[in-house]
Amino acid sequence: MLIVLLSLVLGCVSAKSLAPEIQKCRKSDPQLGECLAKTVFDSILRFKQGYNELGIVPLEPLVIQKLEFGNSSSGAVAVQHVYENLKLFGITTFTIYDSVANFSDENCYWRLKSYGNLVRMEADYKMSGKLLLFPINGHGKCNNTLYECEAMYNTRCEKYTKNNKKYIRITDFVFKLKPKKVVFDFKNLVDGNEYLSNEVLKTANENPMQVYADVGPAFDEAIAKIEKEIVNRVFSRVPEDELFLP
Ligand SMILES: *[C@@H]1O[C@H](CO)[C@@H](O)[C@H](O)[C@H]1NC(C)=O
Ligand SMILES: *[C@@H]1O[C@H](CO)[C@@H](O)[C@H](O)[C@H]1NC(C)=O
Ligand SMILES: *[C@@H]1O[C@H](CO)[C@@H](O)[C@H](O)[C@H]1NC(C)=O
Repeated sequence: MLIVLLSLVLGCVSAKSLAPEIQKCRKSDPQLGECLAKTVFDSILRFKQGYNELGIVPLEPLVIQKLEFGNSSSGAVAVQHVYENLKLFGITTFTIYDSVANFSDENCYWRLKSYGNLVRMEADYKMSGKLLLFPINGHGKCNNTLYECEAMYNTRCEKYTKNNKKYIRITDFVFKLKPKKVVFDFKNLVDGNEYLSNEVLKTANENPMQVYADVGPAFDEAIAKIEKEIVNRVFSRVPEDELFLP
């Protein structure tokens, strides 16, 4: 079970244009993937403080009101996680290094890989259950850092017509983040017991990839949901012929 709440941007839904400074790609370009990599990277930098007109929330940091997942019954972590006021830093620093796209047909796709040095997540957390065999029941601040991250995106989309204009909609959005190193910082993992809290945290940080292997997929799924929604907000406002050159 996964619950994700992102703040809504309410805006007028009439057809919009991309900002004129954004370089558009040609759908027929044999190097479309590379062109998109550059354009999207430039757009993310340009819009990282958010852009209401296109439904883009601020991206640096990306604020997630609430993220809840849990009840994995196997593995090192069998636990319920709730994160509130989650701030994710670093997603705008990723550089795309492998990008293949085709938007010519009704069934379009974009697959890419990207790399970022550091992702940090600060939040108010609640966690109950077991962490590496320790029974825990903690709540407080957390500040976790992921280093040397490879991100993989695999997206598919479809086209539809609205008010006589063609639009694109992402249907499938798979995201996987692979950090090389993870450092956890959870305060008060064993509620009210500072000594045990520190011991459990120390153990988690001695086996960080084992802990991350269990929580990572839920984070990936949450990020995929959020990014898919952000992209679809833009796509539902900007018709295909404003996104691409022929
Ligand atoms: C995209 O796919 C279409 C049809 O499947 C093909 O004709 C075209 O060459 C492809 N374009 C690129 C840039 O690969
Ligand atoms: C998680 O599992 C426990 C025990 O089976 C159950 O009581 C609880 O309601 C479950 N929580 C969620 C959010 O599904
Ligand atoms: C989280 O950790 C980073 C790096 O150690 C630090 O700069 C930042 O201030 C911390 N954030 C909070 C809310 O403690």
